[in-house]
Amino acid sequence: AYSAKIGPSILSSDLSQLGAECKRMMECGADFLHLDVMDGHFVPNITFGHPMVECLRNAVGPIPFFDMHMMVSRPEQWVKPMAAAGANQYTFHLEATTNPGNLIKEIKENGMKVGLAIKPGTTVEDLAPWAGQIDMALVMTVEPGFGGQKFMEGMLPKVSWLRSQFPSLDIEVDGGVGPDTIHKCAEVGANMIVSGSAVVGSDDPRSVIALLKDVVIE
Ligand code: DX5
Ligand code: ZN
Repeated sequence: AYSAKIGPSILSSDLSQLGAECKRMMECGADFLHLDVMDGHFVPNITFGHPMVECLRNAVGPIPFFDMHMMVSRPEQWVKPMAAAGANQYTFHLEATTNPGNLIKEIKENGMKVGLAIKPGTTVEDLAPWAGQIDMALVMTVEPGFGGQKFMEGMLPKVSWLRSQFPSLDIEVDGGVGPDTIHKCAEVGANMIVSGSAVVGSDDPRSVIALLKDVVIE
């Protein structure tokens, strides 16, 4: 049977209450937390960095899995600080580095899992050479930078191709995913589902998370 892990993106939550929001999401059944780091350079928006992550780790305790989505121009710079702050997985953008191999190695040496993300304009063939060395591939289904955007269905062939080539790779989708689009993602083999506004903005996040998890492929 198909089973996906659900990771709320807390970007859409009340940022003055992040610790409480992270706890609330875990209590509502989240499998992991997707934390969006933006530097105002790689993407036209700014969120937070490792000092915030350290505070969040202290607030939620050791259990919640922090998937750091690093939308930053110099991903090499934050590996050690993020590891020290309590990050579990370091997901960097292929577009942001000239030496993915070295970065992958460094992330592993610092005790974190490795995620590799591609923007909508980047082909999956560009990611493929690294797929054997990473824990997770992140296929962006919106242009990174903001929550609440429309799901890009044209990204799904990337997921199905990756799934066919790498049966045991974790494949994450991020952007515009919610009850209306989850089926399409599940069908092509995504098994880590990020959902921001659909979960965090809901009156009943517990039900939305349950619904996303219970998706059945026909
Ligand atoms: C966008 C971020 C996403 C975003 C998802 O740049 O990477 O994680 O917060 O939010 P929704 O689900 O609202 O598209
Ligand atoms: Zn993200």
